[in-house]
Amino acid sequence: MKRSSVISVLVAAALSLGGCSGGADPGEYTFNNGGFENGSLSGWTADGDAFGEKSVSRLTVSECGDTFYQQGKYFLYGGAVDGKATGTLTSEAFKLKGNGRIGFLIGAGADPDKCYVALCDADGKELVKAGNERFGASGFTDGMYRVVLDGSDYVGKKVRIKIVDNDSGEGMQNYINVDDFIVNYGGEAEIPGKTLAADKYISQMSQAVDTTYRHTYHVMPPVGWMNDPNGFNYAFGKYHFFYQFHPYSAEWGPMHWGHYTTEDFVKWSLEPTAIAPDTDYDRDGCFSGTSIVKDGRMYLMYTSVADGRQTQALARSTDGVHFTKAGEVITSEELPADCSWADFRDPKVFYRGDSYYALMGSRGTDGSGQVLMYKSADLMRWRYVGKVWKDRRTNGVYECPDLVNIGGADVFITSPQGFARDDWRHENVHGNLYMTGKLNTDTGAFEALYEDEIDSGFDFYAPQTLTAPDGRVIMTAWMQMWTRSMPAAAHGWAGAAILPRELSLKNGRLYQTPVREIEKYRRNKMTAENREIDGEITLDGVSGTKAELVVSLDLGSAAKAGIKVYCGTRHETLIYYDRAADKVVFDRSNMGTTISHDAKELNASKRSAKVTIENNTLKIRIFLDVSSCEVFFNDGERVMTGNVYSDAGDTGISFFAENGTAKIVSLEKYDIVVG
Ligand code: FRU
Repeated sequence: MKRSSVISVLVAAALSLGGCSGGADPGEYTFNNGGFENGSLSGWTADGDAFGEKSVSRLTVSECGDTFYQQGKYFLYGGAVDGKATGTLTSEAFKLKGNGRIGFLIGAGADPDKCYVALCDADGKELVKAGNERFGASGFTDGMYRVVLDGSDYVGKKVRIKIVDNDSGEGMQNYINVDDFIVNYGGEAEIPGKTLAADKYISQMSQAVDTTYRHTYHVMPPVGWMNDPNGFNYAFGKYHFFYQFHPYSAEWGPMHWGHYTTEDFVKWSLEPTAIAPDTDYDRDGCFSGTSIVKDGRMYLMYTSVADGRQTQALARSTDGVHFTKAGEVITSEELPADCSWADFRDPKVFYRGDSYYALMGSRGTDGSGQVLMYKSADLMRWRYVGKVWKDRRTNGVYECPDLVNIGGADVFITSPQGFARDDWRHENVHGNLYMTGKLNTDTGAFEALYEDEIDSGFDFYAPQTLTAPDGRVIMTAWMQMWTRSMPAAAHGWAGAAILPRELSLKNGRLYQTPVREIEKYRRNKMTAENREIDGEITLDGVSGTKAELVVSLDLGSAAKAGIKVYCGTRHETLIYYDRAADKVVFDRSNMGTTISHDAKELNASKRSAKVTIENNTLKIRIFLDVSSCEVFFNDGERVMTGNVYSDAGDTGISFFAENGTAKIVSLEKYDIVVG
């Protein structure tokens, strides 16, 4: 992010400083000990009692628990000596080159008239100054953020920087913190707040995350916690993936919206945190929602939570990166009487005809799960239209509704909490569901023609769709599940999203295939044909944990036949067809890690599902990514997704048949390499 590019320019400039002359752009540079990285006040002259050697600090958190966000190891902590003392600290004189703008970090200094930083002439006369005008903004008190002093009128002159503490009062933060002076600064001033705090935390902590289970081509939080994908969309020339994000621990907490962009759903670029819980109406969390582009602006519609009340709010952006909150747009006053204001969330916004519509998950006062529809002409004023869906198969909310049109048919997608198990379907505590049919935009009602589970594995929740510029409907989802232990959490992160899938309908049924862009990353192709499986076999060149397998399996006479992945001497995960049950099975019970789960769930180690077996043959396509396994049966007729936490050495792949023989009709194996 910007921080590292600033540092690299600075280092390059520092190395070449002696050599730059005349009108050449000097690059960003600093003066002697302009970032206090000497660990002392060398290069600075103190006057008065406010500053001493103790002021050069390595602390990262202040006494009141505020993070300082310094750059490098050291910074100037004005409170270290005596908050009430006054004094100044003046730098050596240096020639002001470049654009004359000086960027630096400032914190504390509650009274900007008394505590400030001045650009002075060589004799110490103050020319321009800047204080902490945003003291206290979203909790930034001791925490520093970047401001810019404009000295463009003094370029070419000898100047000094003077840090002034004239505050001898008793008030809060009556001293000044500063750090990291950059001359010829090319960047912008920062706005202190919770999104900036999150980004600073990410840049400091993401390197500390244990990479054992980190995926290579799945999107995951840089540090901390991820749950639902949000605002999945195409805008400003790329795809946007926002997500429910708690940076500060690998557990769910006050929700921010993290943000990645991608051009191919495989390589992900981290963007600044989009929104954070920092207003009266969303102080307890910015919950899930979607994004939409209108008149060249990107709008995020999300659930704002405060004191247990859920309302819907908007944030907007002109560049798809920086967002400004635009306030609440649907409050609980617009909620039908039989719905709870404590469960009214996850707006899916879409445009149809000449209006905007929003679907929201909700819980009825009678205990039913419901989805409500609202309508708007301008995204700001909304009116309730009616109920899209209502039933009692959930014991909570129909969370994260989504609606997309595929080839003329509406596909309504939801994530029902505590959904009733139905034979082999919905074995997880929280379900995932699609219905094909038609949405009546006049009444809101959805006429369902067919319904099924979307993914029959362990770790799949809160899917969202987008329609790509080329017309493909692409779905993402959280590749985790509530009420289970998450082994990666002990490593400083938790949660990821699936490899996005292209959706299509065949005979009214949903088919899912991995985005075709993944094929660009196939390396080291290995093929095999007509291999008899009697017992268990391995094939040369077929192993690995960042890989794709495309297998056509003749089930022969075997009672069970399939593939083992993440195999080691003690561990294995099985994907196979069980003839007696006539089901495919994903069995991770011997992966090497035990996942604790809610008592309502029979187990968190084995899932099964029905697929079509034609000519005694099964097609299996598997994607492995360090700790995940996504299995597509019969070209996307059914998909099972699960995380697999094995040992790093468990890289084996084998093929097996029990009580009879089977045959690999054809096999392709690729490594997936994301450079
Ligand atoms: C679904 C969900 C949403 C909610 C979000 C909060 O996983 O419970 O309903 O908006 O997570 O993080």
